[in-house]
Order: sequence, then C-alpha cells, then structure tokens
Amino acid sequence: MARTKLVAGNWKMNKKVFEGTEFIEDIHQHINVKECEVVLCPPTIALTEISALLEDLESDVMLGAQNVHFEESGAYTGETAAGMLADIGVTHCIIGHSERREYFAETNETVNKKIKKTIEHSIVPIVCVGESLSQRENNETFDFIKTQIVEGFNGIDKEDVKLCVIAYEPIWAIGTGKTATSDQAEEVCKFIRETIKDLYDEETAEEIKILYGGSVKAANAKELFSMENIDGALVGGASLTSEFIDIVKAAL
Ligand code: PGA
Repeated sequence: MARTKLVAGNWKMNKKVFEGTEFIEDIHQHINVKECEVVLCPPTIALTEISALLEDLESDVMLGAQNVHFEESGAYTGETAAGMLADIGVTHCIIGHSERREYFAETNETVNKKIKKTIEHSIVPIVCVGESLSQRENNETFDFIKTQIVEGFNGIDKEDVKLCVIAYEPIWAIGTGKTATSDQAEEVCKFIRETIKDLYDEETAEEIKILYGGSVKAANAKELFSMENIDGALVGGASLTSEFIDIVKAAL
C-alpha cells in the first residue's frame, strides 16, 4: 500500500510570531503541494495567527502543535488543552519529543494519555520514539523503542492507531548534525512497523505513517525517503530556513 509522504517542521522555541508569518509568506508558493502532506509546528503563541494566515493563503500546509496537556481543562497553569488546539485549526501534535522527555519529565504514561486526548479531539499525534547513544552502543535500541511503543499506545484502538504518526528520532542525531544512515533509520522504522503488526495487525502496520527525524537536511532527505518503511521526516533545524522547501520537494 502506498502511504502518502509527510514532512513535518518542528520550529521548537524559535521565531517570534511576525517572523513565523513572514517565513510562511515567503515559502508559501513552494510548499503548497498536494502530492505530500506538510505540517508546520510553530511555538504555541504563534498558532492562532499562523492558522489564520494559512487559511487566508488557502494553503494545503497543515498546522501542528509541539505539545498538549492530557486533561480536558482545569487548573494546569501554562498548559494548552487539545480542545483549544482543535478549536483554532490545529490538526497535528508532536507528543513525547525527546526534549520533552528529557527536560519536562514526559514519560510513556503521559505520552499515552496525550495520544488518547488528541485522538478524542481528532488531532493526529506525531509520537516520537528513539534511543540515546549509550542505549544504541549497548544494543538496547530495539527493547527501548518497543517499550516506548507498547506503553505509549496502551489501550488505543487499532482504528485510531492507523491515523497516528510515529517519528523515529534517535536522540544522538537530533540537532547534532549526525544523521542516522538511511540503513540505520530504515532498520528501526521497519522494526517499529513490525512492532505495530505484532500489537495490532498487518493492515494497521501498513497504514500507520513512520517518519525519521534527526538532522534531516536537503542533502540526505531523498535517500531517507526512498527507504521502504520511511514515510517522511520530522525536521528541526532545517525547517527554520528555505532548506525546508527542498526537503519537501525530496518527498514528491
Ligand atoms: P533536528 O531536530 O532536525 O534539528 O535534528 C529534529 C527534531 O528534534 O525533531
């Protein structure tokens, strides 16, 4: 089954609102493509304005959040609810990014609750998994990622899982300039698909999109995208500049 490619840009804590809107106006013509899915994930403060801009531009680019809270609403100072995101046109949400796991105490349990909450609000979760350098060196990669998936997707129906996205992001490749080779990335993405098949079934495993993330650049995107189990990329640094256009083009 041919899965449509997806390229997501994670701006992390970069670009003021006006910088984000200017950037989108600049690149709009080049990334308004129907052959692949493009999602931009600006900081929360810019979501409302960028949502309105994408609508004005009649853009096909979709809007993603970088984080969400797992409760519906309430006394959670500084947090954003899934219903609030859906209300302003957010269609995707990054969940369990390694930076959130490391700096903000995100666990497989909170990842699981957040996946359920986004699904409830028809937001597609982009669930990040990936091993550290020491885990890779100690041959713990597969066990670690399997646990992230088993616990992260615990209690989620297969019809919902089919609509989810998993991003394989080896921590040692994020922001380091060190990309996993396409074979290394494919090996783990294939393992992730097999894990989904074991947990659910072949149909679910064939439908779910699996992205690679970690120093994706225009120079390595095409080769990564040519791998059987890699359905696109989650791009950090290179999504902040016009290089992102070339990465999207590599997915076409
Ligand atoms: P990078 O970040 O492309 O800058 O390595 C990827 C990510 O953190 O999603």
